[in-house]
Amino acid sequence: SKIVLAYSGGLDTSAIIPWLKENYGDCEVIAFVADIGQEREDLVGVEEKALRSGASACYIADLREEFIKDYVYPVLKTGALYEGTYLLGTSMARPLIAKAQVELALKLGADALCHGATGKGNDQVRFETTYTALAPQLKVVAPWREWDLRSREALLDYLKVRDIPTTASLEKIYSRDANAWHISTEGGVLESPWNASNQDCWVWTNSPEDAPNESELVTVGVENGEVVAVNGKKMSPFACLEALNVLGAKHGVGRIDIVENRLVGIKSRGCYETPGGTIMMAALRGVEQLVLDRDCFKWREQLGQEMSYVVYDGRWFAPLRESIQAAADSIAKDVNGEVVIKLYKGQATAIQKKSGNSLYNEEFATFGEDDVYDHSHAGGFIRLFSLSSRIRALNEKK
Ligand code: ARG
Ligand code: SIN
Repeated sequence: SKIVLAYSGGLDTSAIIPWLKENYGDCEVIAFVADIGQEREDLVGVEEKALRSGASACYIADLREEFIKDYVYPVLKTGALYEGTYLLGTSMARPLIAKAQVELALKLGADALCHGATGKGNDQVRFETTYTALAPQLKVVAPWREWDLRSREALLDYLKVRDIPTTASLEKIYSRDANAWHISTEGGVLESPWNASNQDCWVWTNSPEDAPNESELVTVGVENGEVVAVNGKKMSPFACLEALNVLGAKHGVGRIDIVENRLVGIKSRGCYETPGGTIMMAALRGVEQLVLDRDCFKWREQLGQEMSYVVYDGRWFAPLRESIQAAADSIAKDVNGEVVIKLYKGQATAIQKKSGNSLYNEEFATFGEDDVYDHSHAGGFIRLFSLSSRIRALNEKK
């Protein structure tokens, strides 16, 4: 049989290759590597690594533009923030990786799919929910739920006995996941929520303390609720993100340190870095403030709330996600404009906003004199608006 494995080049998925061959009837293992903008060094020599571990072939797919354009942007448009803070970096990437993996498996006529996520996390759910939605006929193998290799040491031994060289070391304290949008760090000292994070927990962004003492301004162009330009230069979604990542990382923007509820019921602690994404979020919300009326703003917030669970739970290939996305697209039609973001010591603040669709009207908003608004109308409005309170209060007096 033929198994397509979502391969990263790390220790876990390297050990999975020989394990599959030994435990699944001398099957053929094909390594699939998704390039979603993770650290470049993770891709260097990854094919060689896969083959050395016993894979019969290794395919690398460049999914970077697709990831930002078709996965990140639609989610960003809804304003989704899981449990109020998490920009869903890992959650959005899993369905894309799994989809590309399925496509390869179908092309190669494989019978099974495999991933290296543990049995305690969200990622297994996201991978397998996507597999099921796209190719329910394929078998799924999740070695972490089957094997008895429980530690890093055991995995290293497993490879050593089989003469498979690895550059992995015993000292890997953190569980990390990186792509163009974010880097997550979990485990190690972070396992106690009473331990403050230290320098090692942050790998991408400057700490706000070490960030430049001078602020920096960046102008973000927005069309249809999507970031299309940085400092006046129109670029692809991925290129916009890359430009903003550099600026955000320099100024220590986009760090969060949270305890979250996993889908499987476990609470976990993580430090996440989303530098460019945090700037994009500030820019989109800035334009929305000018453009969306109160009802639409509230609706967009509800969409974001719902979308955050859909995405976190890995329900990407599902009608609900498409429906939320359609609603968000409809609202975003008017979300066009430009925002100047000030970057300073961990903060990304929208300090200037404009839009051709702005509903902001200085004539109405002014605290000075105006001739468009009759103050006396407000009295009647409040009288009706508070009528039920009045009736209740009068009843209570009786
Ligand atoms: N807790 C985050 C999430 O569920 C990050 C998961 C990171 N995954 C990993 N394999 N290290 O989206
Ligand atoms: C894992 O368990 O493989 C990583 C963490 C998660 O999926 O939530």
